[in-house]
Amino acid sequence: MRKKVTKAIFPVAGLGTRFLPATKAIPKEIMTLVDRPLIQYAIDEAREAGIKEFIFVTSRGKSALEDYFDHAPQLEQELRKKDKKDLMQVLKSTYMDSGAIAYIRQHRALGLGHAVHCARRLIANEPFAVILPDDVIDGEQGCLKQMVDAYEETGGCMVAAMEVPPEKASSYGVLDVADDMGSLVSVKGMVEKPKAEEAPSNLAVIGRYILTPSVLRNLSKQDAGAGGEIQLTDAIAKEIGGEQGVYGFRFRGQRYDCGSKSGFLQATVAFGLARDELRDDLMAYLDELAATRKAAE
Ligand code: UTP
Repeated sequence: MRKKVTKAIFPVAGLGTRFLPATKAIPKEIMTLVDRPLIQYAIDEAREAGIKEFIFVTSRGKSALEDYFDHAPQLEQELRKKDKKDLMQVLKSTYMDSGAIAYIRQHRALGLGHAVHCARRLIANEPFAVILPDDVIDGEQGCLKQMVDAYEETGGCMVAAMEVPPEKASSYGVLDVADDMGSLVSVKGMVEKPKAEEAPSNLAVIGRYILTPSVLRNLSKQDAGAGGEIQLTDAIAKEIGGEQGVYGFRFRGQRYDCGSKSGFLQATVAFGLARDELRDDLMAYLDELAATRKAAE
């Protein structure tokens, strides 16, 4: 029987420089799409996939993130007094069971691989998930749930993969595909941030992973890679050709890169349009905007 994936690491210790000056005072993961912070989307996706333990790798200045998951008795009391049942439900969806959530500090932002390594003592000897909350994925079924189901068949390491045009390859880790089986591909190599002409495929790795504990051991021995950072991709690549192998998973759903301003704005519009109470107003505004722009051309 394969061990179930019940732990997830959320690396949230990055500096978030692309969102300065906002990130001077608020963690990127607390920024909201409509009214829910990025981290809430990530937690909901993890819960749907059966995750029971949530491990945050944080850094200085991220206390708002820790507060976000706390119970809020005063607010609860007010809502109860005013009989705001719907809002009570919303509030409760942010609560975490005592003991289900842990925070580990990454003292210096040495890279994603290093952030994951910081959580090694809480993982021990079992498979685990890694979720980057700035990749928000909208779909009928959560991306991690899809991956956990596929992982039950494959074992090994699995990364979420998405097709990107060649000129975008240099922003991602890119898969060198051994065997393309449709939604699953087996991987014979991974290149971090290749130039367009050197990308081995159009399949880019995005922020969802299921990893074996051996990746943590690889990270212990690993030096800095591309960009001077300790790269998670390099540690996963060491598992290629091993007993269990590495797989890419083409997930079903729309991914928004909310670590970039343009991705964040696109997600805001998409999630706004998905809300019944906002759709008509927002759509009317977008139509008007498009018409005004067209008329000005
Ligand atoms: P990014 O590459 O988006 O970096 O990290 P960043 O610092 O968050 O943002 P920019 O580029 O300065 O705007 C991808 C994910 O890895 C985490 C980040 O918090 C984010 O979730 N990360 C990155 C760490 O936890 N520690 C690191 O040292 C680097």
